[in-house]
Amino acid sequence: MQIKTIRGTKDILPNEAAEWVVVETAARELFSRYGYAEIRTPVIEETALFSRSVGETSDIVQKQMYSFKDRGERSITLRPEGTAPVVRAYLENNINNKQGLTKLFYMGPMFRAERPQAGRQRQFHQIGVEAIGSASPYLDAEVIILLADLLKAAGVTDFQVNINNLGCAKDKESFAGLLKKALKPKLKSLCENCQERFDKNTLRVLDCKNPDCKKILPEIADYQCQDCKDHYKSVLECLKLSGVKFKPSANLVRGLDYYTGTVFEVISSKLGSQDALAAGGRYDNLIKDLGGPSIPAVGFAIGIERLLMASGQCSVDSVQWKKIYIATLGEAARKKGFELASQLRERGICCLMEYDEKSLKAQLKAASNQKCDYAAILGDDELKKGKIILRDMSKSEQSEISLECFVTHLKSIT
Ligand code: HAM
Repeated sequence: MQIKTIRGTKDILPNEAAEWVVVETAARELFSRYGYAEIRTPVIEETALFSRSVGETSDIVQKQMYSFKDRGERSITLRPEGTAPVVRAYLENNINNKQGLTKLFYMGPMFRAERPQAGRQRQFHQIGVEAIGSASPYLDAEVIILLADLLKAAGVTDFQVNINNLGCAKDKESFAGLLKKALKPKLKSLCENCQERFDKNTLRVLDCKNPDCKKILPEIADYQCQDCKDHYKSVLECLKLSGVKFKPSANLVRGLDYYTGTVFEVISSKLGSQDALAAGGRYDNLIKDLGGPSIPAVGFAIGIERLLMASGQCSVDSVQWKKIYIATLGEAARKKGFELASQLRERGICCLMEYDEKSLKAQLKAASNQKCDYAAILGDDELKKGKIILRDMSKSEQSEISLECFVTHLKSIT
């Protein structure tokens, strides 16, 4: 029986991979403009890293982690997200930038055992940034502006930034208390999931997508301390200056426990029910919770699959290489063609050729299918004359040029 991909995973096929490269290249270029350096962390981590950061009672830790015991009976998890691994690496490798701010970005696969559907996979990919070392509201705004820039560069025009401020750890506690009080009389009308969340992680009730629950959820305002209110006000002011459109959303709480203060998500109507394109926020206590000093930080992650679903065409120009196809007839011509192909590639020119015996018609058809700009045709007659025919595929025009000048001529026109 044929073996297929595992449910919730996908092959990224050659025609799709080209688009991925465009997005990844655009992201790299943007990130370096904002001063971010790349970090690559392992795909497997100790399970405790996620239970201690994302949260023991979060959906991710409770239901979605791919965890297993390795040969040494250690509990290992395929990373469900990138923030906790980056913080672990930051602490473990002492990459604490002496000037204060450490700006890191990452790209790669994440794993969550969710029910697969359009835009929701079990292996998916994120591009994320983490700015570690400042509590300034300017940094929150910068991270959101960077995200908006990335979306625009990837051709996403239709998106909305929802933003909230959860308050500091103390505020979050009073928020949960007030919410509990407001929800208690309505508890029986909430869905089973909400009833469970009510006890385990009350704030998460606000995240319920059930329309009946949504109708009865209260909006709890004005529970933040003055510092948190001031911080939120400054972030919104900076965003206004930048022109990024945003919508304050008092019920935005996020599903990962490490957030404090600013939280945000980007949604797009192009995504259907899985409308979250990207999300992030501040996690000022996480570094301390993972055994480090008290250092504030903020970041975001965007799902690449969802980004590609939401984007029209990438506005970033991918490097367009001119492609040459060398069509040969007969063994002697094939040998010479092979030599020319190597010389072209050595000079950075993209060159394809057929090694099996095929008719000229078949080879020109292959050149056209593979979107080659030129076909160079070489048979015994041309070899004898020391010439090669160069055909411009889009104009269907051809001319003879000397074999000696072939490589330099192509270098000048590609
Ligand atoms: P998150 O909201 O869990 O945040 O994920 C961020 C993005 O990853 C989502 O908005 C979505 O585009 C994508 N995503 C999540 N799950 C799936 C899935 N099953 N299939 C496809 N795409 C998915 C985080 O992961 C935080 N670490 C973000 C962050 C960085 N906060 C601070 N720094």
